[in-house]
Amino acid sequence: MHSTFQVEIGQDRIAVLKINLADRTMNVLTPAFERELAETVERLAADASVKGLVLTSGKQAFIAGADLKALVELFERETTPRQAAAMSQSTSRLFRRIETCGKPVAAAINGLALGGGFELCLACHYRVLADDPRAVVGLPEVKVGLLPGAGGTQRVPRLAGIARGLPLLLEGRHLKPQEALQLGLVHELAPQEQVVERARAWIAQGGKAQQPWDAKDYKVPGGAGISDPVIATLFTATTAAVQKSTQRNYPAPLAILSAVFEGTQVPIDTGLRIESKYFGQLATGAAARNLIRAMFINKTAADSLARRPAGFAASKVGRLGMLGAGMMGAGIAYSAAAAGIEVVLLDTSEALAKKGKDYTRGLVAKGIESGRLDTAAGKAIEERIRTTCRFEDLAGCELVIEAVFENRALKAEVTRKAEAVIPASAVFASNTSTLPITGLAEASVRPAQFIGLHFFSPVDRMPLVEVILGRATAPATVAKALDFVRQIRKTPIVVNDSRGFYTSRVFGMFNHEGMRMLAEGVDPALIENVSRAAGMPVGPLAVSDEVSLELIEKVMAQSEADLGGRYVKPAGYDVVRRFVHELKRPGRKAGQGFYDYPQGGRKQLWPGLREIYPPAATQPAPEEIRKRILYIQAIETVRCLEEDVLTHPADADLGAILGWGFPAWTGGPLSLIETVGLQSFVADCERFAKAYGSRYAPTEDLRRRAHSGTGYYAAAEASPSTGGQSKAASSAAA
Ligand code: NAI
Repeated sequence: MHSTFQVEIGQDRIAVLKINLADRTMNVLTPAFERELAETVERLAADASVKGLVLTSGKQAFIAGADLKALVELFERETTPRQAAAMSQSTSRLFRRIETCGKPVAAAINGLALGGGFELCLACHYRVLADDPRAVVGLPEVKVGLLPGAGGTQRVPRLAGIARGLPLLLEGRHLKPQEALQLGLVHELAPQEQVVERARAWIAQGGKAQQPWDAKDYKVPGGAGISDPVIATLFTATTAAVQKSTQRNYPAPLAILSAVFEGTQVPIDTGLRIESKYFGQLATGAAARNLIRAMFINKTAADSLARRPAGFAASKVGRLGMLGAGMMGAGIAYSAAAAGIEVVLLDTSEALAKKGKDYTRGLVAKGIESGRLDTAAGKAIEERIRTTCRFEDLAGCELVIEAVFENRALKAEVTRKAEAVIPASAVFASNTSTLPITGLAEASVRPAQFIGLHFFSPVDRMPLVEVILGRATAPATVAKALDFVRQIRKTPIVVNDSRGFYTSRVFGMFNHEGMRMLAEGVDPALIENVSRAAGMPVGPLAVSDEVSLELIEKVMAQSEADLGGRYVKPAGYDVVRRFVHELKRPGRKAGQGFYDYPQGGRKQLWPGLREIYPPAATQPAPEEIRKRILYIQAIETVRCLEEDVLTHPADADLGAILGWGFPAWTGGPLSLIETVGLQSFVADCERFAKAYGSRYAPTEDLRRRAHSGTGYYAAAEASPSTGGQSKAASSAAA
């Protein structure tokens, strides 16, 4: 009796292996499954009465991939590249044995098959895929810094050709059934309930127990090797493109190119060994560990509401009140309506509210045009948004979110007006980006039901919501707010109240550091280029223009007025004020900031910059700038954690990547510190503090950690009070 699958041999003498891992909602490749599969394949191969094998799944999906949690453990156990390569080789040998076992083997792919799950299918002689949009196949390993280590880099190009196969491996895209058929990665599509029957029929009709590459005269379709001019050009061009897009921060795409290039010029067994060698290097490298931790483990935990207070019944918002139909309000209204929620969209006039709704109309029209939405679904989204300028229309809203101008008095006014109408149980949320929630809650008659829901722009595309707890916010309110974030399919992090909360505070440090460097005489093009090469989506000067220097100046002025003598001027204070007040270059909207924005042309650094801040004769090394840009964000994140603005390292790392585009290869600011090494980070920060200012000074706790070698994640996992990762996070896979 197997714990991972059942075997049934029918009257037609065809054995059907139904994969069905006990205690898992999804099938994943585990050592136990592989052991049982190996034994079973040997037994059936030796049984002369068995005609062939069909592999299928007893769950809705076929196999979701490898167990990524187990891969992270690899890293934590300090596995060597050679040991990791041996693990890949062991799976590869099993899959190779399946295709050379002498019996015809067919995969009846009844649902999604990704990563190692799809690689198993590729090692079958025949593949029937369910003709169902949910039955996607693909090799997404590159997205977590890996390559398909069980034959994917060898079998895909041997089936589809290198030119058609490479994009699949380099992008890690999911393929819909029709696309997989066109690429020659599956042989046949069939209704889901018929896939096993069709696979059986193929065997019964004498399906051949041989892969194309095991035939004598086999050649890779479209050619392989450096002597083929088309292929040589393809590899040269793709390598250049990959170098440019990864800036050497992500090693996986180059390793994939190498595995395909080298592996397709030799027999498949050698190709598989080459693939395993590259897999071993990637699986034990920092980028893969960081990407898996951030984008998979931390994200899955956040999406499954790991930080939701226990003991409150699940809630759902039926009707949302949206105050302010400007850029943010319009976006939030769309996201809620798209998730099936009725929205009352309110502004100071019906016309402004309607203008906000036009944003949804635009997105719906685009969705219909691209085929992502059908007309009826699009119409339903539009109809869910009701526009108004009357607060009475908010009656019955279980949740109200305000996104009116960033003005405390105005926010207090709309809070009072809304609370007079909405049910006593309703939650009131503010989308403020800078004003502390505890202060805003003073306007509320129910401060326990007041919370911050900080969205990012553009709301329809940005996945993160920063949930901010005021001093009086009740756990029940947190639970409801988190349920809503999940309802609209966004990812929450939970933070405590503070000026700028977490994301705006740390992101602000990035902008200001860029401006400070400018004032120090660092060449602006160097600041921008090095920041992008480090993985920031946009340079600090360009992004400050986007945010608008005027807004940055307003935030500084407000903080200065609020804090008085306790106000600490940010690093770019003088530069911002000079640009806004003296030079009257307030940012992108005005067409003038650090850049010029010629109409219809590309933006260019303003030539006048060099006169105001002449670049110094000796420029710092790019590595120095790169470290300053990343480390200033990391050190501020450390302060947020120590000040209890953040309560869990996972929130810090995930919020940085999803919120303001902190480079994913680092795993987030805290993972970055662990990656470069605590001691090395502290030593650099000490040096920076002396050279550039006390904002770099390492904290006492950081010094202690560096001394004892205690990383952030190890500490969080040991302490249950900081909220561990959920069970769901550890069992899913990619
Ligand atoms: P916006 O200026 O585009 O929109 C504000 C809207 O509020 C306007 O349509 C205005 O007519 C309306 N409004 C003003 N007084 C009102 C009242 N008494 N009743 C109802 N509506 C009223 O501003 P935006 O960018 O949408 O920002 C709104 C809030 O979201 C601000 O608190 C801002 O700090 C915050 N935020 C902004 C982000 C951004 O990237 N722009 C990001 C995250 C938060």
